[in-house]
This record gives sequence, structure tokens and C-alpha cells, in this order.
Amino acid sequence: LKSELLEEVSSAADLAALDSARVGALGKKGKITAAMKGLGGLSPEERKTTGQALNAVKDAVAEAIDARKADLEAAALQQQLESERLDVSLPVRPESRGKLHPISQTMDEIVAIFGAMGLSVREGPNIEDDFHNFTALNIPAEHPARQMMDTFYLQDENGNPDFEKVLRTHTSPVQVRTMQSEEPPIRIIAPGRTYRSDYDATHTPMFHQVEGLVIDKHITFGHLKGCLQEFCDAYFEVENVPLRFRPSYFPFTEPSAEVDIGCSREGGELKIGHYDDWLEILGCGMVHPKVLQHCGIDPEEYQGFAFGMGIERIAMLKYGIPDLRTFYEADIRWLKHYGFVP
Ligand code: PHE
Repeated sequence: LKSELLEEVSSAADLAALDSARVGALGKKGKITAAMKGLGGLSPEERKTTGQALNAVKDAVAEAIDARKADLEAAALQQQLESERLDVSLPVRPESRGKLHPISQTMDEIVAIFGAMGLSVREGPNIEDDFHNFTALNIPAEHPARQMMDTFYLQDENGNPDFEKVLRTHTSPVQVRTMQSEEPPIRIIAPGRTYRSDYDATHTPMFHQVEGLVIDKHITFGHLKGCLQEFCDAYFEVENVPLRFRPSYFPFTEPSAEVDIGCSREGGELKIGHYDDWLEILGCGMVHPKVLQHCGIDPEEYQGFAFGMGIERIAMLKYGIPDLRTFYEADIRWLKHYGFVP
């Protein structure tokens, strides 16, 4: 009986077969159970020896079942591991990863450079009201500068003439919002989108600027020049980038200047370094006392400088891109050509 049962256990090919072998031996109607029941008809002497022998068989079979079960489970696990195995030595499938848009990359770089000088970032709405975009900046209603800006005017659903919202034409309204809500000293930059109705190789209806504003008790034009020179040297990775401060006019600064950067256009590519030409990159000046007053800052106590720089312009210069419109054509060949995607 013992060898017959052990044979059944060891030949069970899977857990289901093993279970039926167990039932066949130890179950209610199993062979060992049946033999146990037959003990009653034996003499006491025989019952003892046969009973002991049967118990030994029962133990041996139970043990064999446990052992077989462990083997079968281990084999099943092994099989699963084999079938789920990954070949980590396989070469990867070629895939191209995306990157931030060149304008975002440039903005991040600008934020990092001014951040190291102690200027922190502020933001404002793209849809501005007349006060923040114009009036507070000393551009009253009939001022010709409103025309200069090629403003996009917005209407509400009813065409209400008093709606007076515009797409901001520059980042300068963020100066106003910051001065209204914060106490000097103020040291901030405000990067973001700006909008003007204009379109050619150097103008798109949506473009980006970064505004700078520093207000404290003894700020001079010298601080402005130093700040911009340091920025340009760091950004273009050239020592003493040639900068030209040209006297100019903005209603919100006095005195005002436009800043040109020395560049060359060898073979259609803009380059910094050796230069035979100038390209305008920003407007700047000392914040006009009227603007300070509009924003609740006493011009007798505080003064400061501000600048507004075209982000596309300085990205074009750094990467030698001749046409501004190409930034917004989403042409993968263009992005690859200038190294903006791998
Ligand atoms: N807002 C001006 C422009 O868009 C630039 C500027 C900013 C000039 C701050 C002076 C001071 O042209």
C-alpha cells in the first residue's frame, strides 16, 4: 500500500493531480482511511501492529505530499519567472525626446541670471486694463504712444465702449502692479507674453518681453548700466559685450534710452563678438516720478530704474536666427537645426 500511494504522489504532474492523490489516500473514502476502518475486525494484537504500520504509512504519505507540493510550487514559480523575464541587454528602440520651446529655454536662462543678481520673478495678466497698461505709466488717453504700441483692444460680449481691456502691449504694467502691492526696496523681473498688431521678419503679433524694475533710495543710471552689462555678458557668454545706450523717449522713464548690442551678420547669421552693426534689444530708463506717484511711492524718497527687453530678439542673437516668425512655426527641422531638440 505504502509504495503504491507514494508512487501516486510522486507521479502527480501538477497541484490538481497531487490533490486528487491526497484525497485518494487520506480523504474520507481514501485507501488509508478505509484500511483504518478495517482495523475493527482484527484481534487486539494484530490491531496494534497493523494500526502502527498504517499510521506510519499515513505519516509517510502526508510528508511525501508536502514535499511534492513544495516542489511543484517551486517549479511553477520558476516557470513564471522564466516567462516574465526581461532581457535588459537588448538595445533601446530609438526615440526622440521633446524639450522646452527655445523661448522657454531662454526665459529660464534670463530668470537664472537676474536671479543670481537678487531680482525675483513677478507675473501679471495678459489681458490688462487701460490703467495698468497705459495711464499709470504716464500714457494718458490721447497720448501718441498709444498708437505707437499697435494695441489689440478687446470688447465685451455687448460691445460696451467702456470695457477698456487690452492685450498688454508690454510687460511694464507688471511694474505698476508690483509697486502698488509691495513696499520698496523692490528688485524684480517680469517675463511674459506681450501683444502688438504687427507682422514681419522682426515682429510677430505675440512676442515675449522681460521687464526689470529696481526701486530703492539711491538708485542711479550707473546701476542700470552695470546691471544690463552684467546680464549681457552672462547671457551671451562674452566678456564686455558691446552695448550702446542711445537717448530715447518713453513716457514712463526719464531719462530714457534704447540699448543696442554690437553684432555682425556674416552669411545671413547674426553673431555677437566681432561686430560691424548694432541691433536694438531693449528700452530702459529711470522710472518717471509721475509713475512712482501713480503707484503710491514718494519720488522724493525713492527712485529706480526699469527696462524692457525683447526675449525673441536676444534668443535670435544668441542662436543666429535671422527670422523671428520661425519661432512659432513649430517646424521640427528648424528646432533640430538650431539644436533645440536632440
Ligand atoms: N515698455 C517698453 C517697450 O515695450 C520698454 C521699456 C520698459 C522702456 C521699461 C523703459 C522702461 O518698448
